[in-house]
Amino acid sequence: MPPQPHSPQARRIVVITGAGSGIGAAIALHFADHQHLVVCCGRRREACLATVQAIENAGGTAQAVACDIRDTSAVENTISHIIEQHGHIDVLIANAGIAENRSVIETSDSLLDDILRTNVQGTFSCCRAAFAHMLPRKEGAIITIGSVVSHKGYPQQAAYAASKHAVLGFTRSLCAEAQPHGIRVACVMPGGVATEMVRRTRPDLDGNQMIQPEDVANAVRYLVDLPKRIAIDSISIRRWNASPH
Ligand SMILES: NC(=O)c1ccc[n+]([C@@H]2O[C@H](COP(=O)([O-])OP(=O)(O)OC[C@H]3O[C@@H](n4cnc5c(N)ncnc54)[C@H](OP(=O)(O)O)[C@@H]3O)[C@@H](O)[C@H]2O)c1
Repeated sequence: MPPQPHSPQARRIVVITGAGSGIGAAIALHFADHQHLVVCCGRRREACLATVQAIENAGGTAQAVACDIRDTSAVENTISHIIEQHGHIDVLIANAGIAENRSVIETSDSLLDDILRTNVQGTFSCCRAAFAHMLPRKEGAIITIGSVVSHKGYPQQAAYAASKHAVLGFTRSLCAEAQPHGIRVACVMPGGVATEMVRRTRPDLDGNQMIQPEDVANAVRYLVDLPKRIAIDSISIRRWNASPH
């Protein structure tokens, strides 16, 4: 007998990196229902466990997995372990990332390396590992989180902008490879979102005028649930007071 619509076997398996805080936690909560099992990944297991608790309190099902996305073998083991446990991955939200405000002159090789290893290599290896398992099933969705600096450049953000331009370029190529196999790939690119990251890197922004993590989560959920007849490759979300282009 095929799995019934709301049986544990019919649940969509949604993996979210950086789900212990900010935007990732908000996205995770958007999938807190009986149709999804949410795997919350991040380096800080306790932070992911707090998101799991919030999802369970909202009636959903989730689990926490500690994983540092800078470590490719840890990423591959984590994805393989999820497949062993649940059989497949339906959705990957590659959200984890870091930012530091530094001028070009002040950006050391080690800071550049950390930002690129996390935002570019980490995003790449998470997507590659999940994509490899989605290919034979010919279904799935991968959403990356870029930024307004995927298509703009701001002072003090050169390393971060380089990494987020790379995330967009990577997502576009992955989309072209994945589409013939029925796998959806898209990038969400927000401006300033009210999280700890932006409070630290853009203290000049007024918290009341910022994008909320839930706004980004709405866009991600919208992309994941699109009907198969249409594709939306990217969504830019900007603060109302930011310039349109
Ligand atoms: N806030 C904004 O204005 C804004 C705007 C555009 C795009 N974004 C992007 O949105 C994403 C989420 O950012 P946020 O604002 O929600 O900031 P945040 O609260 O600092 O979240 C970043 C998350 O990434 C995880 N992470 C960082 N390095 C990791 C690693 N090596 N391995 C695994 N997980 C790692 C962190 O968890 P652990 O520390 O536990 O690992 C944390 O939960 C990032 O990609 C960011 O670049 C943010």
